[in-house]
Amino acid sequence: MPDQPIPSFYNDLAETRAQAWALLVRGVADRRSPFHAPTVASLGLDGRPRARVVILRGCDAASATLRFNTDRRTEKFAELARDPRVALTGYDAGSKIQIRIEGEASLHINDAVADAAWEASRPFSRICYGTAPAPGVMLGDGGDFSLPSEDAAIAAGRANFSTVVIWARTLEWLYLAHAGHRRARFELSSNGQGVWLTP
Ligand SMILES: Cc1cc2nc3c(=O)[nH]c(=O)nc-3n(C[C@H](O)[C@H](O)[C@H](O)COP(=O)(O)O)c2cc1C
Repeated sequence: MPDQPIPSFYNDLAETRAQAWALLVRGVADRRSPFHAPTVASLGLDGRPRARVVILRGCDAASATLRFNTDRRTEKFAELARDPRVALTGYDAGSKIQIRIEGEASLHINDAVADAAWEASRPFSRICYGTAPAPGVMLGDGGDFSLPSEDAAIAAGRANFSTVVIWARTLEWLYLAHAGHRRARFELSSNGQGVWLTP
């Protein structure tokens, strides 16, 4: 196995934090990045944990926010409306870095944040928001649902569209290395420097 070079962030909390946000920001634009499709967990309406993959649509280190789009008719939307506590995680097998975020979600339907997210979405993505019946409805056959094809019907999907902003409170980092793993946690609200944890 080739030697794994020691990266500059290895023993540096500030660089680790910056690297984590850089990876997440890259995940928005780079569809090949593993952080493009992180897993988001919420508390189910029955109290059980629920996790699913979403596409990362926004990330801003300065405000410690991340964003994804979803249909307001989904379970996750109802779950986050009831309890905004949310977790997001991703793992980059190439760089051997796991990032875990915990925070609170704010749901946007009829505001400027949602309007901007809808405008930024591609026509192909918008089609999903016109699906009928609603996501999660039990079907007689697997194909017993429809998607809009006319422009007006696709535009009407805006009524089902929402964007979810995750206000990150903590960021946890795990870097797997032959020289010894490195694990760190950052309290984002206090803007603290972070602490190392036993991996
Ligand atoms: C690669 C991939 C990307 C996905 N992106 C999204 C997304 O951005 N938003 C979303 O609501 N669901 C997305 N899904 C579907 C969800 O994982 C999930 O199946 C669906 O939203 C229903 O989840 P819920 O019932 O917990 O709300 C994606 C699934 C995959 C496999």
